[in-house]
Amino acid sequence: MKTKYRILRLLSLFLIGIIVKCKNVENKKGEYNSDMKERELVESRGGVEIKKSDFGKTSDGKIVEKYSVSNASGLEMNVINYGGIITSLKIPDKNGKYEDVVLGLDNIKDYEDGSPYFGAIIGRYGNRIANAKFSLDGKDYKLDANNGPNSLHGGKKGFDKVIWNVEPNSGENEASLKLSYMSPDGEGGFPGNLQITVTYTLNSNNELYVNYEATTDEKTVINLTQHTYFNLTGDFSKKVLDHIVEINADSFLPVNKTLIPTGKLKPVAGTPFDFTEPKTISKGITQENSNEQLNIGGGFDHSWILNKENKEVAFAASAYEPESGRFMEVYTSEPAIQFYTGNFLDGSLPAKGGGEYEKRSGFCMETQHYPDSPNQENFPSTILKPGETYTSETSYKFSVK
Ligand code: BGC
Repeated sequence: MKTKYRILRLLSLFLIGIIVKCKNVENKKGEYNSDMKERELVESRGGVEIKKSDFGKTSDGKIVEKYSVSNASGLEMNVINYGGIITSLKIPDKNGKYEDVVLGLDNIKDYEDGSPYFGAIIGRYGNRIANAKFSLDGKDYKLDANNGPNSLHGGKKGFDKVIWNVEPNSGENEASLKLSYMSPDGEGGFPGNLQITVTYTLNSNNELYVNYEATTDEKTVINLTQHTYFNLTGDFSKKVLDHIVEINADSFLPVNKTLIPTGKLKPVAGTPFDFTEPKTISKGITQENSNEQLNIGGGFDHSWILNKENKEVAFAASAYEPESGRFMEVYTSEPAIQFYTGNFLDGSLPAKGGGEYEKRSGFCMETQHYPDSPNQENFPSTILKPGETYTSETSYKFSVK
């Protein structure tokens, strides 16, 4: 009996040993499996998921990570930690076909080599500051002049070119990426250590929220925005001219030859800038030669002053692409929107999936404060003081009709 028991005991120990060994092999396989490393699931709840993978390496050797966020209905957005860039956004057309509707580039080198801010977070100051300078409390600040005499989108190395820290999160019906960055005092010429967070949230109603927050330790100026170029056809070889656009604005800011606002607000009524009733982009743009403002911008590249009160979140603009049926609405707490029709795209950049991005193959709807506010006393203030928190919210709602 005793021997029988001993044999059984030895046998079971042997079997346990084999099982543990196999499990270890399995674990090892899981841990080092190349697929797992490439696309790792980091959050999953309800229908939403966030996956993480490597996107590449910057020229100075920093790893660029890509986060793929998807919701229950199948929308998928890819964001990289370089520039907080939305590299792709797949949404359905009226037949349920999912296609990528945002312009972007295939690899990090192309982004570093000269992206026209495709999909990026813009800061410290969205759009232009005249002659790359401003003064605050009698002190002059000299900024990077990276657009003729002016400073554009934060200067030579704006927030579109820095590595952001990314924290993925999932809630009941939403997934979010909280991006943060500390912009040191003097970066781009701006005063104050500025701590920024930008949160992208994709929810089950096919809405993308972008929430901005910032604090400073010294009085400074700030104007953050998001620079995604949309083409709702889902085909980047097509131009955006047939998109039907509405902008909730009765006036816009005319600009000088270097695209700095003259300081005067002009009513849109009776001009190609009137998008209070939806109309195609082409309808306005065909007047490019006869309209001085369109001529200066090479198309639409202006700030529309939204019909809204202070910081309330209100409807800003929409775009409808009749063939695909895709419809996008933009809501914001910001006072203005820069509607830019991809006038400077010139066929020199490789499009995702082949071909090149031609003039007007995308449009931007950049919600923000007015350009050059630090130099224009009559514009709403963009000053941020220590102890205050800068907040801003914009959402994009996608549907079909
Ligand atoms: C500006 C354009 C500029 C573009 C950058 C837009 O926000 O208004 O003038 O060319 O960004 O590609």
